[in-house]
Amino acid sequence: MLTPEILEYYERGGETVRLSSGVGRLEFLRTWDILTRILPPPPAVIVDVGGATGVYAGPLAHAGYQVTVVDPVPAHISSAAELPGVAAVLGDVRSLPQGDGTADVVLLMGPLYHLPDPAERALAWREAVRVARAGGLVAGATITRHAPLLDVVARGLFGDREVQAVTLDDLAHGRHVSPPGRPLFTTAYFHAPGEPAREASAAGLTGVRTLAVEGPVWPMADRVADLLDDPVTSAEFLSVLRGLEAEPSLLGASSHLLTFGKS
Ligand SMILES: C[S@@+](CC[C@H](N)C(=O)[O-])C[C@H]1O[C@@H](n2cnc3c(N)ncnc32)[C@H](O)[C@@H]1O
Repeated sequence: MLTPEILEYYERGGETVRLSSGVGRLEFLRTWDILTRILPPPPAVIVDVGGATGVYAGPLAHAGYQVTVVDPVPAHISSAAELPGVAAVLGDVRSLPQGDGTADVVLLMGPLYHLPDPAERALAWREAVRVARAGGLVAGATITRHAPLLDVVARGLFGDREVQAVTLDDLAHGRHVSPPGRPLFTTAYFHAPGEPAREASAAGLTGVRTLAVEGPVWPMADRVADLLDDPVTSAEFLSVLRGLEAEPSLLGASSHLLTFGKS
């Protein structure tokens, strides 16, 4: 199950609100934009692994999908289970409770960046492939290797020696361990841009593609929030980001990538 520091991080309740404002809102809108283009039409069975409080599961259920959230944080499961049409079970991506070939779609939007051990990430992808039916969709979110540097510079934290040391360590090998009490993400792994596709293909997925979720604009958080506040500008802005989502030279500048393929 989860290591104590990851559990403690999520027990603070941040996932309830994280995607509702600023750059989190951009992450949600862009992820939703991609999902609506790659998911099969409803009704289809979706297992949302690492689905937290159901921030995607709720709208997916509303759109007519049969959604089950699997998450190892009990408070997440309690919140997700309250959403209309959403089932929620406690569980870990490394040993999913679902049977073989029982889902049309398996989403891994969270677990992959909390597994620093490559063997455990490989297991996570394989579990998703096992649960997906033949020809089903598996989609995994990852955080990019350079996101921590952009994040600490944008937040004015690079001058903090301890934060800087952690950030340089992140850049060197992607494995992230935060000293207790610092304003940084919990234990994580930050993928190099080509890595998620290699992991997905190694697990047996075919037709694998990787798209940038936020693109390179996310460090300008206040400007992004302003753009999303205006409905016309927001639509134009999201359209530009859609046009850039597959641009190879920009993948590494996005905070999140979404990698998907067919089982
Ligand atoms: C940052 S949240 C992402 C929530 C949501 N899916 C999203 O994309 O915004 C990461 C989620 O992954 C879950 N998670 C972490 N390790 C996991 C594991 N080994 N198996 C399943 N879920 C895990 C956490 O509990 C948390 O809900």
